[in-house]
Amino acid sequence: MDTLQSKTLEYLANAKRRKFNDWLPSQFDFRDTWFPLSHANHVGKQAIRRIVHNQFIYLWREGERIVAADNHPDITGFRRRPANSFTAGSGLYKAVERYGYIWVWYGNPDNADQALIPHIPFLPKNGMGIPNYMRTTIRFDACSTLSVENLLDLTHADFLHGEVVGGEGEAKTDEAFFESTSETITRTRIVTGKPVSPIMRWVGGVRVKYQDFRSTLHVHLRSNVCIYYPRFDPGFDVPNVQPFVPSGPYSSRVDQIFSLADAPTPFRQLMPKVAFIVGPQDNSVMRPQNPRYINLDTRADLHSRFDAPGNRYRYLMNKLNERQKNSDFSYLSDVDPGANITELLGMNIKR
Ligand SMILES: [Fe+2]
Repeated sequence: MDTLQSKTLEYLANAKRRKFNDWLPSQFDFRDTWFPLSHANHVGKQAIRRIVHNQFIYLWREGERIVAADNHPDITGFRRRPANSFTAGSGLYKAVERYGYIWVWYGNPDNADQALIPHIPFLPKNGMGIPNYMRTTIRFDACSTLSVENLLDLTHADFLHGEVVGGEGEAKTDEAFFESTSETITRTRIVTGKPVSPIMRWVGGVRVKYQDFRSTLHVHLRSNVCIYYPRFDPGFDVPNVQPFVPSGPYSSRVDQIFSLADAPTPFRQLMPKVAFIVGPQDNSVMRPQNPRYINLDTRADLHSRFDAPGNRYRYLMNKLNERQKNSDFSYLSDVDPGANITELLGMNIKR
């Protein structure tokens, strides 16, 4: 018997005994939210397929109209999947083009409201003028929640991505803090006297030894849309959006958009490509973590005070899940995804 076969048999034998963790990502199948399912420029006359919680959604354009459907347009008759409750029997999801993405409403179509699309202050609302080279797509071999937790840990860049985007070595001061609402976490890190990151030095033309760094990450819990605003001084701002669309318990997809109009060339052309180095680095850590993350493990879940945002994240996700399990899909009064976050991101702070 080969190893794969014996492993499969062992897996099946344990299947009955296996319990899922309280912290089960597939539980977090949150409804009534907009997912940015695709880069807007990837959607044309030909239908493309995206996956949300293991369900196919097809996207295409008919003239001005964007169509999001649970069946491919060429599929007819008995081969069509029956329409689900997300489309009120029509087979069509509500879809909107904004900030260079196609957003699809996942939930009760009667509750779809464009005001609930997260505000992204550094991207044009109509998506016009976003250069192609500022868009990337990365697939992670981890569920969206683990991916978000990894990103919430803003210090991980130092050791995991140190040679590219992080600055190795000690900084003069380094502080991190966060705030939250019932559906958002906003985490900020302020570092002074940090060794200049290699990419800033060699490609960005920052010729000093040390720089200050301030970054804010704003996370929308229901949609996993992460809005990131790092600023380097001397240097420039590297704002970007990372929406972790939940494809399944072992995968998520990120259509990332940078906004680097203020950065010099060739930095602005090259920086988005760094996602193809940084993404696999994250993946190398998350891929082996994901099975343990999903399944019940008797080992203690150890964490330190630096994990406070991650712990708050789990706490809030569980609370939101509790409400949704009781068929309460509303947004509480402290949440307004479409509210202006310019100040929250620290964009208004003068250099
Ligand atoms: Fe990372």
